[in-house]
Formats: sequence, C-alpha cells, structure tokens
Amino acid sequence: EKLSFREAIERASSSLYRFPLLPVRGIPLMNHIANSWDTIWAFRPDPSDILIATYPKSGTTWTQEIVDLLLHNGDADACKRAPTPERSPFLELVAPPPIPSGIDLMKNMDPPRIIKTHLPFQLVPPAFWENKCKTIYVARNAKDNMVSYYHFACMSKTQPEPGPWEGYISKFMRGELAWGSWYDHVKGYWKEREKRNILYLFYEDMKENPRCEVERIMNYLDLSLSDEVISRIVELTSFEIMKENPMANYSCIPTHVFDNSISPFMRKGQVGDWRNHFTPEQSKMFAEDYDKKMKDVNIPFRTLI
Ligand code: A3P
Repeated sequence: EKLSFREAIERASSSLYRFPLLPVRGIPLMNHIANSWDTIWAFRPDPSDILIATYPKSGTTWTQEIVDLLLHNGDADACKRAPTPERSPFLELVAPPPIPSGIDLMKNMDPPRIIKTHLPFQLVPPAFWENKCKTIYVARNAKDNMVSYYHFACMSKTQPEPGPWEGYISKFMRGELAWGSWYDHVKGYWKEREKRNILYLFYEDMKENPRCEVERIMNYLDLSLSDEVISRIVELTSFEIMKENPMANYSCIPTHVFDNSISPFMRKGQVGDWRNHFTPEQSKMFAEDYDKKMKDVNIPFRTLI
C-alpha cells in the first residue's frame, strides 16, 4: 500500500509529539535521527545530487523551491507534482513508521535529487564531499532566525516545547535546540565553503535582490535559463505566492502536527521581525554574547543588531 506523505503522517501522528533530543557527537538531534545515525552517516548520494544545507528556519523551503524550478525550467505545474518534503527529501528525517525516511524517499527518485539537510558541516555524510556534490548553504541573521524557530517550535509538535521566550533566547545562545548551535552551524560551513565549493547565501540578500540570488544559484548549478524564465521563478518563489501554494506551504502536514492556528509555517517572511520580540536588554545581552562567539570569523551578515 503506497501512502502519501500526508497519509503516513496521519497514521503516525499519535507518536509524533515533542520528540526528545539526543546528542550525536555533541549535537542535539531528535531521538529517531540519533537512533538511526549509522544509516544516515553511511548515505551515499549520487554525484549529481544537490544538497541544500541550512540551520532550521533560515530559508530552506524557499531555496528548495527555487532549485526545483530552476531544474524544471520554471515549469510551475511540474513543481506542483508533490509537496516539498516529497520533491526534495530531508536527508536525516527519520520518524515513526509508516512515515518514510528521507533516504527511503530518495530511493524512488532519479538523480539529480534536491536533498535538504540541517546537519552541521561535520555531521554531513562524507560521501557528499567525496562525490563533490553541489551544496548550497543559506544563512539567516541570528535574531530573525531565532524568532522564526521559536514560532515554529510553538506550532510544530515535532519540536521540543520551546517554553517562554526569555528562556528560549538562552537555549538558542547555548546551542540547546534541535540541530545545535546556530553560531557553530553558520561558521562550520563558512570555513569550508572554498575547499568544498559551497555556494554560501544569505536570506537577507535573497529578500533584497531575489533575482540576483536566483541567477547565482542558476550559474552555480551550470544552468542557463532565459530572462523570462528567471523572472517567472522569482515571481513564483516570492513569499506571497509560496504562502498560497499548497505544494510549497507545508499544508501537507496535518494541523494537529503543524498547528497553523498558533503560527503558520509561512509566517512573515521578513527581515527584522526580531525588533517585535527582543526587549532592549535582551538585545544588548544577545549582542555582547554574539560578538564573543563570532569574533573568530568575519561572515558578512548585513542585519546583525
Ligand atoms: P518566518 O518565520 O520569519 O516567517 P525554513 O524553510 O528554513 O523552515 O524557513 C522558514 C522561514 O522562511 C519562515 O520565516 C518562512 O516564512 C520563510 N520563508 C519561506 N518561504 C519564503 C519566501 N518565499 N520568501 C521569504 N521568506 C520565506
């Protein structure tokens, strides 16, 4: 019996709530992922596979949509063949049965596959680098990234309880959230980007000049599409259009798992929403800690403080 992603989640949903985190080489991951770690680490991609790597909530779904449209010459219908997690499997996703793992989903797909991961650089299966897979990393400024993750943890029953905002800031700063420290994550890929030929993008640049960033991705993937098709892709991947696209807005996840009445998956899609969340004291405390943690690298985030 072949279940759709949604049907599989419906069947498993009673066991989907608030997974505990277990460390894998010091990085807190959901228990199912940690328990299947050997299989994930041994995964061998095809050399043509494309990896999209991010810290959670920094623009993953957006980038997945851009890449899928680029590979399909801007064909909107082709990119509505299935919801995002089926079109672009989540490498380390292991959930209770009958939900297919990311690796299971990939078995039925022809390369080049668009593979999503939130793993920090050092936990990416080494075969990705042996096979020189193209890798796109997207970083988002720390405060907006945290705000987005906080709202996601409130609405997604697969996340640990976020608790109150004040305490969530501390957890973020200590790297105690699922997939670990934001600081180590953005630095880990930054340090490797030249050696591994990683295209390192920023959410804020994508917002400010989406066409420029879509073209950078296109060039990185050795594709050459017409100006008209590029314009269409920019339009189709705007926040407003993606929010209404049932194959890109995560409405495939039943509402008792992703509770859109608490916060929609496509929430605001803006730069600077942190101003509506941080008090001046919290902002100061965060900035002082940020400077200490980030002083050893010079990653050009434009909207830090
Ligand atoms: P907000 O919570 O700030 O709205 P991810 O896909 O990595 O989980 O990231 C989700 C974040 O990206 C959410 O941020 C979501 O609204 C935003 N997002 C998704 N699609 C977007 C788009 N096309 N343009 C801008 N932001 C987008």
